[in-house]
Amino acid sequence: MSQLSVKDISKSFGALSVIDKFDLELSMGDRHAVIGPNGAGKTTLFNMISGWIPPDKGTIEIEGLDITNHSPQAVTQAGLARSFQKNTLFDWLTVAESLRLAVQASSNVRFNFLQPARRFGGLQQRAHEIARQMELEPVFHREVRTLSYGQKRQLEVGMALACSPKILLLDEPAAGTSHAERATLVRLLTTLPKNVTLLLVEHDMDVVFGVCSQITVLNYGRIVASGTPEEVRQDPEVRAAYLGESASHDGEVAHV
Ligand SMILES: Nc1ncnc2c1ncn2[C@@H]1O[C@H](COP(=O)(O)OP(=O)(O)O)[C@@H](O)[C@H]1O
Ligand SMILES: [Mg+2]
Repeated sequence: MSQLSVKDISKSFGALSVIDKFDLELSMGDRHAVIGPNGAGKTTLFNMISGWIPPDKGTIEIEGLDITNHSPQAVTQAGLARSFQKNTLFDWLTVAESLRLAVQASSNVRFNFLQPARRFGGLQQRAHEIARQMELEPVFHREVRTLSYGQKRQLEVGMALACSPKILLLDEPAAGTSHAERATLVRLLTTLPKNVTLLLVEHDMDVVFGVCSQITVLNYGRIVASGTPEEVRQDPEVRAAYLGESASHDGEVAHV
């Protein structure tokens, strides 16, 4: 059974068709990238899969459970977490506080409120685990505003991991990072537990090719190619529309 099954979903905003008959099947542990030019519909796709906006048609299932039209909270409950393209951090919180909040928000603490001390300890422990996983231990007690840009992006991934998701959706986690920060991010993403399924939207081809073994190419809301990095790289339509002349020397794909 697929872990994530997206069948024939479409979305229009007014007269603008943003996602047109999109299909995707992910199995546990897959590392799958969705690439495509700005405006191709990648974030809209993530918004639909994570329950933020309903598709006009089609179905989305997690491990056979139909989550089409379910709330973001229900989708999280079903095992899916996402990060956002835009910064969603609170500058004045520490890394520890940010992660604790994310863990708390994702766990059902309603029945534990009589044991606040024990609960805090559990939250802190999990927050610390995630900080270690995301190489943020040295800055665990620092305020977010004092972190480097790359560390902030690592924290965003960490916050998405807070609910121990089976499926993790990351929307351009490397956007705006330096070459060295991207290398760190690639290392961290490749060392995610093998049972976490990763769906990644990313412009940076070093990150895509460094992390993912399957790629879907979107253009104007339609799949123009899908396959291994090699297959996608060789696809004439992709080369012409996307990777071809517009690929810059450092592996970053220019927005077309
Ligand atoms: N809520 C919305 N209302 C109207 N148009 C939208 C909305 N969200 C996205 N769009 C449009 O849909 C298209 C795809 O946007 P988006 O999914 O953000 O693309 P990408 O993430 O691939 O850059 C764009 O033309 C964008 O302007
Ligand atoms: Mg986007």
